[in-house]
Amino acid sequence: KKVVLAYSGGLDTSIILKWLQTEYGCEVMTFTADLGQGEELEPARAKAVLLGIDPKNIYIEDVREEFVRDFVFPMFRANALYEGLYLLGTSIARPLIAKRLVEIAALTGADAVAHGATGKGNDQVRFELTAYALNPHIRVIAPWREWDLTSRTKLIEFAENNQIPIAKDKRGEAPFSVDANLLHTSSEGKALENPANEAPSYVYQRTVDPEDAPNTPEMVEITFEKGDAVAINGVAMSPATILTRLNELGGKHGVGRLDLVENRFVGMKSRGIYETPGGTILLEAHRGIEQITLDSGAGHLKDSIMPRYAELIYNGFWYSPEREMLQALIDKSQEHVTGTVRVKLYKGSARTVARWSEHSLYSEKHVTFEEDAGAYDQKDAAGFIKLNALRLKLIATRNERVKKR
Ligand code: ARG
Ligand code: SIN
Repeated sequence: KKVVLAYSGGLDTSIILKWLQTEYGCEVMTFTADLGQGEELEPARAKAVLLGIDPKNIYIEDVREEFVRDFVFPMFRANALYEGLYLLGTSIARPLIAKRLVEIAALTGADAVAHGATGKGNDQVRFELTAYALNPHIRVIAPWREWDLTSRTKLIEFAENNQIPIAKDKRGEAPFSVDANLLHTSSEGKALENPANEAPSYVYQRTVDPEDAPNTPEMVEITFEKGDAVAINGVAMSPATILTRLNELGGKHGVGRLDLVENRFVGMKSRGIYETPGGTILLEAHRGIEQITLDSGAGHLKDSIMPRYAELIYNGFWYSPEREMLQALIDKSQEHVTGTVRVKLYKGSARTVARWSEHSLYSEKHVTFEEDAGAYDQKDAAGFIKLNALRLKLIATRNERVKKR
């Protein structure tokens, strides 16, 4: 029996690795992805070797470009926000990790994949829905739902008994659960569990406090082509490079902090702190370019399906027919979303201050408050209003009559 484990090199997935070997007696393969979490990956390799994994069974891959190009950018075409605020930084990364687990399983003849998500959260759902959508025969092992290592103390004990190195700060209670990638860093648990308490400042990892951000604003120009960012300040860059650059700018100016109580798919509410510096700038800029390039009918329709699309991603249905159908609609809407937006970054805010495009629908000739040289006949508006008012007048007249009786 062979299993491919999503392995971070951290304590929890190292324990899972050992547990799979001892409890299941199976050959373990590890997959460690560079999603831009900002951690060295070679220590994960060394640790896997130390825990007895055959070097040819260790898969370490830089998937940053694929992550941004095939997952983050398509999602940003929709301006997706879960429950009005969450930019879905963890949700969008899970399908990619699970896809690679299944692919590596096929490559190596493994019949199972394993992950380190708990039985209480969204991540287990996302990993597993993806795995089953891509391979209906795959087996999934979720140790957190099976083992009896139900407390931190028992975990540490298991680690010590199995010669798993434990970082000093992990011996006590870990302060919270963190998930990071190129799009965001999320923090949950411990000091954050009571939503009545403000998050301590040490929770924030990649953005400065807006109050400590530079006193001078900074401008950034983002160029879009068919809804995707392709250049910053006139310089063409790859998707992952663009997001990396925007993260630096956003982090420096304290952009993209969010303190949110959200509804998990499994039913409970949870409180999290999110930092999405580059993504927050990108969303603002994308809205900015859509303002001049999207027709109102197209724009209002895509906005109306956005909450549904965001919920599908949050709930783990990236690989579902309905997500793909909505994606086709969204992608179609982006045909002319090409042009440049200037965003001003200042003390936690990212605001569009200018936008221009060859594909613009904006007509100064029509909208001007000055002489418009016959482009628009104001008299046409009288009939437009009269007919639109007809039913409102009929209702008001009926109400007058009924009230009198
Ligand atoms: N609540 C967020 C979400 O469901 C973040 C989850 C973070 N996951 C983690 N393993 N720390 O997308
Ligand atoms: C977890 O339960 O592993 C993290 C939180 C989540 O998935 O929602």
